[in-house]
Amino acid sequence: MTKILVTGGTGYIGSHTVVELQKAGYEVVIIDNLSNSNIHVLDGIEKISGIRPEFIEGDVTDLPTLRKLFSSHPGIKGIINFAASKAVNESVEKPLKYYRNNLVSLLNLLDLMPEFGVEGIVFSSSCTVYGEPDNNPIDESAPIKPATSPYGNTKQISEEIITDTIYAGAPIKSIILRYFNPVGAHPSAEIGELPLGVPQNLIPYLTQTAAGIRKELTVFGDDYSTPDGSCIRDFIDVNDLARAHVIAMKRMLENKGEKLEIFNLGTGTGLSVLQLIESFERATGVKVPYKIGKRREGDIEKIWADPKKANEVLGWKAEADIDDTMRNAWRWQQRVTPKNP
Ligand code: WQD
Repeated sequence: MTKILVTGGTGYIGSHTVVELQKAGYEVVIIDNLSNSNIHVLDGIEKISGIRPEFIEGDVTDLPTLRKLFSSHPGIKGIINFAASKAVNESVEKPLKYYRNNLVSLLNLLDLMPEFGVEGIVFSSSCTVYGEPDNNPIDESAPIKPATSPYGNTKQISEEIITDTIYAGAPIKSIILRYFNPVGAHPSAEIGELPLGVPQNLIPYLTQTAAGIRKELTVFGDDYSTPDGSCIRDFIDVNDLARAHVIAMKRMLENKGEKLEIFNLGTGTGLSVLQLIESFERATGVKVPYKIGKRREGDIEKIWADPKKANEVLGWKAEADIDDTMRNAWRWQQRVTPKNP
């Protein structure tokens, strides 16, 4: 059985990817420092797949920890690297935390891969590297714009680190996946998004509002030059996203494609914030109290993917219907909402 290391594997996208890797017959080892996730995610993964993944609580920025992991788990052939801090606003307040956590972890992995015969790394990147696109849909040839946050900058720098390392002749391969907006939860409601504190992202805030945890959702601006005035995004179901990682890993380990490949992972359809609220209400029958507020600093007006390259080269396509995705998100929120005492 091919062994894969998933860093940040108890996180939102990580846990959904672990389930898909197990379904595809891979043996999974997770390292996570639980700074932004919960150890009980392992129970959810086991409930879905019937397999409890090997778990090491540890920090990928600590080289001795990582070296010990590779030594005690020989035969790891591939890595999917999710371990990173990802809150855009927090990165503006604490840039050093983001540069250290997101870059040192990647440097450690790249350093150790050749030493332990690890052949490839799938890197979790983001459409944030494109900044505000000149036009949409956006494909992989679009220009990389100056980052608008330290978080976004760590993604750009990480991509450059991987590119330079491979071009310098390192005996490794990489596939960089640029996510658009991951949303939803596993249909079993055993795993999903577990934001700590007040959610920054739209869907967790929306579902917490629908559950009565938040009083009302604020739509950050309806005066953008879009059909209904609210921002447009490419909301991709987290299960579709997870499946793309398995396909990418298989492609890399079967030595198909170039040493370094980059793919946009999106649905190819732009939906506005107000349209997403409509989808949630239609799908669940639950009203979401919201008000229109001021624009949020740093928000991109509109961005959605041209997923043609991933569709044709990876043979991957986002399948989920947004209403189904909203139903899954709601089922998960109902699962994790504390019952009235
Ligand atoms: C989406 C839209 C908001 C909350 C960021 C990162 C990206 C990735 C996903 C990590 C925007 C609006 C939001 C709310 C709102 N991060 N919104 N009310 O900003 O597109 O992307 O998160 O992987 O790299 O850049 O996602 O969910 O925060 O916002 O109106 O309470 O929803 O203005 O238009 P974003 P988001």
